[in-house]
Amino acid sequence: MNLDNYPQHPWKIIEEGWNKENTKASESLFSLGNGVMGQRANFEEDYSGSSFQGSYVGGVYYPDKTRVGWWKNGYPEYFAKVLNAPNWIGLHLQINGELFDLNKATKIEGFYRELDMETGLYTRRFKALFNDITVSVESKRFLSLARPKLGVLEYSITTDQAVTIELQPYIDAGITNHDSNWDDQFWAIDQKVGSGNRAYIEAHTLKTNFSVGTFMAAQLFEAGVELDSPATQKEGDQKIGQVFFHKLKANTPLTLVKLGGYVSSRNFPKATLEKEANDVLDEASKLTFSTLFEEQKKAWSNVWKSADIHIEGDTKAQQAIRFNIFQLNQTYTGEDAGLNIGPKGFTGEKYGGSTYWDTEAYCIPFYMATKNQTVARNLLTYRYNQLDRAIENAEKLGFSKGAALYPMVTMNGEECHNEWEITFEEIHRNSAIAFAIFNYTRYTGDLSYIPVMGMEVLIGIARFWRQRASFSSAKNKYVILGVTGPNEYENNVNNNWYTNYSAQWCMSYAADQLAALRLSSPKDATRIEQKTNFQNEELAQWKETAENMYLPKDDTLNVVLQQDGFLDKELVKAADLNPAERPINQHWSWDRILRSPYIKQADVLQGMYLFEDKFDEATLRRNYAFYEPFTVHESSLSPCVHSIIASKLGEDEAAYTFYLQTARLDLDDYNAEVEEGLHITSMAGTWMSIVEGFAGMRVQNNSLSFSPRLPKAWDKLSFKINFRWHIYSLVMLQNSFYCEVDSATEKTLIVEGTTHVFVKHISLEL
Ligand code: BGC
Repeated sequence: MNLDNYPQHPWKIIEEGWNKENTKASESLFSLGNGVMGQRANFEEDYSGSSFQGSYVGGVYYPDKTRVGWWKNGYPEYFAKVLNAPNWIGLHLQINGELFDLNKATKIEGFYRELDMETGLYTRRFKALFNDITVSVESKRFLSLARPKLGVLEYSITTDQAVTIELQPYIDAGITNHDSNWDDQFWAIDQKVGSGNRAYIEAHTLKTNFSVGTFMAAQLFEAGVELDSPATQKEGDQKIGQVFFHKLKANTPLTLVKLGGYVSSRNFPKATLEKEANDVLDEASKLTFSTLFEEQKKAWSNVWKSADIHIEGDTKAQQAIRFNIFQLNQTYTGEDAGLNIGPKGFTGEKYGGSTYWDTEAYCIPFYMATKNQTVARNLLTYRYNQLDRAIENAEKLGFSKGAALYPMVTMNGEECHNEWEITFEEIHRNSAIAFAIFNYTRYTGDLSYIPVMGMEVLIGIARFWRQRASFSSAKNKYVILGVTGPNEYENNVNNNWYTNYSAQWCMSYAADQLAALRLSSPKDATRIEQKTNFQNEELAQWKETAENMYLPKDDTLNVVLQQDGFLDKELVKAADLNPAERPINQHWSWDRILRSPYIKQADVLQGMYLFEDKFDEATLRRNYAFYEPFTVHESSLSPCVHSIIASKLGEDEAAYTFYLQTARLDLDDYNAEVEEGLHITSMAGTWMSIVEGFAGMRVQNNSLSFSPRLPKAWDKLSFKINFRWHIYSLVMLQNSFYCEVDSATEKTLIVEGTTHVFVKHISLEL
């Protein structure tokens, strides 16, 4: 990807100038989504150059049979993938009988793409010399936030001479996944129907049997006047659409407006899908492109009202944070507790589109503070609904009596990951799920989640940790053996500090919550204890295991130890590595990585970030100073946590460098892999680096607290926070702080450690 083609802009992602090498990267960067469906920024017309086609429908997945070299008992049978769905944007364009293809143009001028993040509108235009005809194209499309089943495309063609145009808008169900273990067929087509200017294909996923109806309707305009050119239906094996023939005058735009989208059996009975598709089209066809776009603008403006972050004085930082916020909103809107946030969202196939611990450890704070709290509650409910599967998953590995092990990767609650060192060993993921319950309760003050759902989850998780810990007579402590911590560059280690610490925390938290529930709501406690077959002695067992958990540390360096034996490694700092060998995961054997001290992402520091109240600043500083130099940040989830910690420690330059790394990871293609899709879950970490890092926001005793520390280049930082059903508008300058609340009742804020009580607004010099 050539960064020179992508000028910076506060509200837009722009690509200027034709550069074939950029195509796949731009297909990722200009991706569109509306929480329910998404698509990469593929060209609508045919393109024979290199491209990665991608259209996705949230929650519609295929269980791709596991493929491993050597089967191990306990491996999951399949890897669930949100698969490539039928494409509705396509069109074939023939000019004087020749199929137009940008890859075959003799000259391309004025190639331009723009993604307007304020409105979710994607525009592309160019002028191409094709068989001695100058063809100008402008295409605009958006996936409607207001009508989540609908996408809208307006595609205009102008030529410098009179030509014959054959335009074939179509939908295509003949699609495959790049990522497929056995080259299975994922979809089977059930019906294709076309009539008038509409077409519809219904297909179902094999094995999982989701039915998806993909639909389209086309209208043609010449110089803005609708043509009633009779369209002919055209049908192939896996495609259906129409053909329009038109004699186009020179310099007169011919515009196709194509409505398209999906209805799926996740939301409607199968028998009614075609009717539902027609209903969407009936409604939308009454409106023009510009009216539909007005709705879109309004819907996005509502999102930005409570989610925007405005930075003055630093366009690259500004563009980056808006891009991150925009993509998170394209991926998950929070209405459906059956959906979640895949690490690549709707922008690629890697990670299968499934749910990881990323949701709880990174994404929940963003959704909690930029939307109302029902959204975060839906994310917690997703895990509650999968508790039975987590218990089954633990049983498959030999645990019993209601112990729950949530999967590393999942779509429906079943584990999908099949590398033993992660499937069986990266069990710290369980702790993030318990932590999210704590975090949600602390932030929202919603005390109803724990009795209704959370307590059962906490019991399952605490039971797991109690059983997974074993007693070491030599240490006279509980130990947790054979694990992979958040740093996946170490496998099968003993006593990963983060895992042991978080397990200890989970058991104590679950015990405290149950004891509190017995007092505050004995009826709920009894119901839950009966349902989970809770034995009273379990409380004491959790406490005893937690109190006697072994936490490795080194008294000479006065730091905790990432795991037993960490100090036996050759402790050469990452800065002293040969730059030609970075990233190490692309240059070194796995064996060499495992023996090295290099840390993929925050591990000890992840723990000190999550449980920060338990560590004083000096401890954090020592551990940061010791571990960061060995950290290679080869996971997208790494720089954000380091940025937050660096801000807290007053390491301003490091905080800013990590911020740019996390925020512009995809825009500047730091890891040379943006072609595969965007890093959606780490984008929530970017938001945290500003709000928790530079603004220093925390929740303390039911109030928001701030310790602002703006990067030098920033004149002003403003953002909104939805806290307990009120919007707090914050403005921070290098030495002043202002907050306004949409409520006339008294509010409390803690700024730089001092508590302030105010009504409506407060202004402070710092
Ligand atoms: C990280 C995991 C993360 C996964 C999905 C991996 O590279 O190491 O922590 O859950 O990506 O984002």
